[in-house]
Amino acid sequence: MLVRLLGWMAALVAASLSPLAQAEDGYDLWLRYARADDTRSQAIASHATALVTTGNSATMAAIRAELQRGVGGLTGGTIADSQSVQAGALWLATPEAGAVLPVKTDGLGQEGYAIRSITRDGKPVTLLAANSEFGLLHGAYHWLRLAQTGASLDALDIRSAPRIGLRLLNHWDNLDGTVERGYAGQSIWDWWRLPDWKGPRYTDYARANASIGINGTVLNNVNAKADSLTAPYIAKAAALADIFRPYGIKVYLSVKWTAPMELDGLKTADPLDPQVAAWWKAKADEIYRAIPDFGGFLVKANSEGQPGPQDYKRTHADGANMLAAAVKPHGGIVMWRAFVYAHDNPDDRAKQAYSDFKPLDGRFAENVIVQVKNGAIDFQPREPFHPLFGAMPKTPLMMEFQITKEYLGQSTHLTYLGPLFEEVLRADTFAKGKGSTVAKVIDGSLEGHRLTGIAGVANIGADRDWSGSIFNQADWYAFGRMAWDTSLTADAVARDWAAMTFSPDPRVVQPVVAMMMGSREAAVDYMTPLGLAHIMATGHHYGPGPWVSNLARPEWNPVYYHKADARGVGFDRTRTGSNAVAQYAPPIAKMLSKPETTPERDLLWFHHVPWTYKLKSGDTLWDAMVHHYDLGVDYVAQMRATWDALRPYIDAERFAETQSFLGIQAREAKWWRDACITYFQSKSGLPLPPGSAAPAHDLGYYEALSFPYAPGHH
Ligand code: GCU
Repeated sequence: MLVRLLGWMAALVAASLSPLAQAEDGYDLWLRYARADDTRSQAIASHATALVTTGNSATMAAIRAELQRGVGGLTGGTIADSQSVQAGALWLATPEAGAVLPVKTDGLGQEGYAIRSITRDGKPVTLLAANSEFGLLHGAYHWLRLAQTGASLDALDIRSAPRIGLRLLNHWDNLDGTVERGYAGQSIWDWWRLPDWKGPRYTDYARANASIGINGTVLNNVNAKADSLTAPYIAKAAALADIFRPYGIKVYLSVKWTAPMELDGLKTADPLDPQVAAWWKAKADEIYRAIPDFGGFLVKANSEGQPGPQDYKRTHADGANMLAAAVKPHGGIVMWRAFVYAHDNPDDRAKQAYSDFKPLDGRFAENVIVQVKNGAIDFQPREPFHPLFGAMPKTPLMMEFQITKEYLGQSTHLTYLGPLFEEVLRADTFAKGKGSTVAKVIDGSLEGHRLTGIAGVANIGADRDWSGSIFNQADWYAFGRMAWDTSLTADAVARDWAAMTFSPDPRVVQPVVAMMMGSREAAVDYMTPLGLAHIMATGHHYGPGPWVSNLARPEWNPVYYHKADARGVGFDRTRTGSNAVAQYAPPIAKMLSKPETTPERDLLWFHHVPWTYKLKSGDTLWDAMVHHYDLGVDYVAQMRATWDALRPYIDAERFAETQSFLGIQAREAKWWRDACITYFQSKSGLPLPPGSAAPAHDLGYYEALSFPYAPGHH
């Protein structure tokens, strides 16, 4: 009896454990290190017979732990630490460690690395060389990526170093745990229980970021609270900095301009007031005592109701330079955002950042970098590149992308952002003739700037899968990889991600990448085709709202952006309109000055054109618009079919979640299409082209939908 009972219990335990052991909830991101098949596993093991390292720093410990974890997971074996180089060893070395290296580390900087298959005393060895342990860390992740993706580990000869110095996440996390534009649950920073409770998740966060080359993180929302600068919150930030430091990740803070008034009762926040400057200097000193390698400040000033130097009739440069002086003795920097538009400025919103900042070129201190969103409005599914890129040669400019998908389907739509990043980075500003790409502006090579940066507004939250969906993880991943190497293609990055996240099996990688690569264009099609923008419902930006016209500030209303009327649709930004095109370099301004020479994908961004305007395809604008909406909906249907066919290859949990999210996306793509077509048809008065289905409801139905509790909007 007892024996039977025990047998039963054993069976029960086994039954309850095995699904757990296989559970894939997305927590491991692209660092799953799932067991490779036998051939592959042997190949990996034969290139990782031993791990030769020197030094006992926390960074070296992290590298060893990651390689152990990776090789262990992939092969089921272990990788022994060894003092001497043996056949098949992984040998990690820096010149400082006293090793005479057969590989040159010049030009690799403090973060880059070389990986080379060499022969040492007749033994085949993989040498990973770098100038610093952070370089070794990045190199170790590169090697692990090769191992995970099924790439050859033989005859390696790799050199890699980032061109952009600051590769940062910006968390829009509030101190109360909410996240502005966050769709992955509450903030991962447990501010309340920091600095005492330092959960393991912070280390996993650092690992994930280090694995893709991210080297800094701004912890709090740009709509900052002054409290972040109080002693208790500095201590909390310091606790996080301690965890991230071994991974080469620095912390930064967003600051509120009026903090000196709010926290210490100063009468003013005028940047030229000596007391204000002294306050910030003392505050910087206090922060650096707690966090010696603190990165610096990020500032949103005189934007969307935030206070700033203009409240005191000073310029953005006055404000930035005052803060820069406070952090300068400690080696800190100031990232000053150019995302500004003012309620009392009737000019085209797309022009305002340029108008404010261009005249300040050359007026910023050397440790200030101006952070510019990729487009002139606000992270739309597609925007032409921001006209400030290339227009401020004497000022380092930093890119700001949004990884969290405020305007691209939030947590449930599969809209891979790699193609958006690639499109922006490769856009040609023509600032110094052909080939003056945005990538060259921000990596400093166009104008010879040493301070360089790129930031992504994080999509990370406390959800078990970090990013609100498995596929949203790809956007975090792509941001990091493309920040490290702006020449990478979105396709190559998606391949690596899919192989690591699901399986290196081509039967998985190929269809997953195919889905991803067209997905952003599909969102453009079913939301804002042909250069439409900002027609999302107001406030939460969830779903369509092209009809919204009743908000106090004109530029809060979608009708401001599309200007549809009986004659046509689009925002005239040529000389007959706002003349925003004049903010671009002459060859581009010229191209954009006429609808015929403007890329069709940006047509309505720059022109108000008649509904019957003929496109290159021969279609009228109206018919083409409807076709784009149809294409977007059809693409989502294709993604669903592709995903359904992947069932045999994907674990049940991640398969089911993605399948259900694609169902939501299909429903919402159709909602977008139907609502927009219904609305624009009320303006154009034209029939739908043959073959396009009539929308499911009338305009009143779509207008009446309301989502007071949509996430991310506080
Ligand atoms: C957008 C977003 C805001 C955010 C702002 C910014 O407008 O909707 O939530 O604060 O950008 O970047 O500052």
